[in-house]
Amino acid sequence: MLPRVVATAYLTPLREGGSLPGLVEADDLGTYVVKFTGAGQGPKALVAEIVVGELGRALGVAIPELALIEVDPEIGRREPDQEVQDLVTASAGTNLAVDFLPGSVGYDAAFEVPDRVAASVVWLDAFVANVDRSARNTNLLIWHRQLWAIDHGACLRFHHAWGSVAAFAGSAYNYSDHVLAERGDPRTVHEELSRGVTADLLADVLDQVPDAWLRPDPTRPDARAPADADAARSAYGEYLTARLAAADRWLP
Ligand SMILES: Nc1ncnc2c1ncn2[C@@H]1O[C@H](COP(=O)(O)OP(=O)(O)OP(=O)(O)O)[C@@H](O)[C@H]1O
Ligand SMILES: [Mg+2]
Repeated sequence: MLPRVVATAYLTPLREGGSLPGLVEADDLGTYVVKFTGAGQGPKALVAEIVVGELGRALGVAIPELALIEVDPEIGRREPDQEVQDLVTASAGTNLAVDFLPGSVGYDAAFEVPDRVAASVVWLDAFVANVDRSARNTNLLIWHRQLWAIDHGACLRFHHAWGSVAAFAGSAYNYSDHVLAERGDPRTVHEELSRGVTADLLADVLDQVPDAWLRPDPTRPDARAPADADAARSAYGEYLTARLAAADRWLP
């Protein structure tokens, strides 16, 4: 299960992120990048962060550790920006904490990425349909001379409108928009990584998502959305298993 921590201080907003994540200190003395349930992207973005983050890490992609963090809106009280105050207030309760990588810098093309690392990131992104790894917004950090993948909130787009499993599973991936596509060929790791995505791993990863984030979102009614958290876990499993089986449609 994901560790649980309690936020003790809101340090500063990370304004380069569209969802206005915050740098937050917690009761384990750790510093985290907190992604808030009250952000415009909604709790589904946090579901994608956990599912893809935990899946990717299990497959060997370097991804900062995740935790669940309790936020009392009081911690934002001294923050002068009203937008931050409102976001923290709207996010009272459980949120997602990403281990902060201090001193990390954004990826740039001069950094040498081993073929296998690049291929694994590209494979993961193609599998989960990540549209957020472009040259303009790489969502890749360099830390301790290693490449780290962050920001998986835009993956798994099927959960925003629960349509046909086959349509999602067989949709092609736009490699031309991926910053590492020229550096790593996902076909070179496909056999190994796809073997790693077992039913047990999918179940483990989905178990880590809080029920509240999996329930139908009353602010975004969708008649086809799974009725409760366990139905949602089965549905994610079904879409991802079908995607894996349709790899010939999304590999280059
Ligand atoms: N774990 C981390 N360690 C260090 N810096 C981080 C970490 N996570 C995020 N950041 C910094 O904060 C920025 C915003 O984070 P992130 O991309 O996750 O937020 P977002 O709101 O989802 O962004 P986007 O605008 O791409 O949707 C990153 O570009 C990076 O500079
Ligand atoms: Mg980002």
